[in-house]
Amino acid sequence: MKIAVIGTGYVGLVTATCLAESGNEVVGIDKDAAKIAKLHAGGLPIYEPGLLELVQRNRRDGRLAFGTDLAAGVRGAKLIFIAVGTPQGADGSTDLSAIHAVGDALAAAVAPDAVVILKSTVPVGTNRRLAERMAKTAGRPIEVASNPEFLKEGAAVEDFMKPDRVVVGVRRPETGALLRELYAPFLRTERPFLIMTPESAELTKYVANAMLATKISFINEIANLCEKLGADINDVRRGIGHDQRIGFHFLHPGPGYGGSCFPKDLESLIHQARTVGARLHIVEAVDRVNDQQKKILAEKVKQHFGARLAGKCLAIWGLAFKPRTDDIREAPALEVINALLDEGVKLQVHDPEALANVKAVYGDKLRYFDRPYGALEGADGLILVTEWQEFRHADFDMMRRLMTGHVIFDGRNLYDPKTVAAHGFQYYGIGRHLS
Ligand SMILES: NC(=O)c1ccc[n+]([C@@H]2O[C@H](COP(=O)([O-])OP(=O)(O)OC[C@H]3O[C@@H](n4cnc5c(N)ncnc54)[C@H](O)[C@@H]3O)[C@@H](O)[C@H]2O)c1
Repeated sequence: MKIAVIGTGYVGLVTATCLAESGNEVVGIDKDAAKIAKLHAGGLPIYEPGLLELVQRNRRDGRLAFGTDLAAGVRGAKLIFIAVGTPQGADGSTDLSAIHAVGDALAAAVAPDAVVILKSTVPVGTNRRLAERMAKTAGRPIEVASNPEFLKEGAAVEDFMKPDRVVVGVRRPETGALLRELYAPFLRTERPFLIMTPESAELTKYVANAMLATKISFINEIANLCEKLGADINDVRRGIGHDQRIGFHFLHPGPGYGGSCFPKDLESLIHQARTVGARLHIVEAVDRVNDQQKKILAEKVKQHFGARLAGKCLAIWGLAFKPRTDDIREAPALEVINALLDEGVKLQVHDPEALANVKAVYGDKLRYFDRPYGALEGADGLILVTEWQEFRHADFDMMRRLMTGHVIFDGRNLYDPKTVAAHGFQYYGIGRHLS
């Protein structure tokens, strides 16, 4: 099948590549000429494990191409995916300007039998409004389906190739059948293909993210209570997680959630509810708890150093909003950096993939290190924010030699407090019992 994907960011590039990998002829289109130039040069504009090899192979085999010209790219395409960004607007609403710009361009360019598919996360009703808008511009009806994406950055290729489920929102059964055929290669292990109305599909995406964010804020709030009551969140987690109705997934305490989805999608859902006169009390609380949680690491640092904080040098390990990505949108590490720069702290930072993105924001306000132990030299303490795999087995003896001060703020509870203490470090975790 001939397919076009508009937007070659984290979602669009993975979608285009995986659809090419399953034998389709795919063109990825982006208005950002620098991104397309990078792809033409054989590189990737983002870091996503396993993606580069797939892009290169499918380009070489002639199934995957990229360009900036939308009209040329969608010519002859039967399916056109929209995967452009849908950021948060000033009032919590969703900024749909990119969706509208693409819709207007498509209305003039798509073939009469083409189906436009909204993969971007969009408020309920966007499908209907976009179809109306495009029909008006084109002077004929244009079919618009919804197909929200559930992939996780850091495991995006695997998630697309082996989804837990595929959700599509369609108004005509024929479109559902066409999309079922498209996704069949990815659903061979009996994964469900769920057909519903576009409105239900649009809402499903927000509800999934709200549920996941709820689990995070819930366990973070309980972790903070553990500290006050002298309990240990690791024990409590184990105690509840073995209950099969609860389970272990997404119940890891930390410095709050970030990323390009949860924060803006929760704001959007809250806003959508208010627009129809409803309040989502739980989701609003989840959002508030997270705002507080993102401050917690910097607060622990301030409490530890007290009046001696200004002028100290601290190392930060992990800047991306989660491991295995270079994405720093709404990353908790940025909150830590901002708070400590305000206090006059010197920061030496390391991340395996996100350094360039952080440098683009902070320039010479920070010192950047390609290697984790480089960032520790002369540091008065270490703050671990993002749990990259390589931080799990730390060499505490070497750390002790390199660092001037011996305190670790472990934002992900990676280390055993007793082991850390045995190496002469003071330890702060999230919700840990330390005696
Ligand atoms: N990142 C995720 O993990 C994830 C997961 C599921 C859903 N989503 C949703 O998918 C959508 C895309 O997210 P993303 O993270 O890939 O965003 P992104 O910012 O990485 O990529 C969006 C791309 O769209 C391009 N673009 C914007 N306007 C354009 C236009 N008029 N014509 C052509 N290209 C245009 C941008 O240049 C950019 O490359 C969002 O709605 C997001 O909420 C994201």
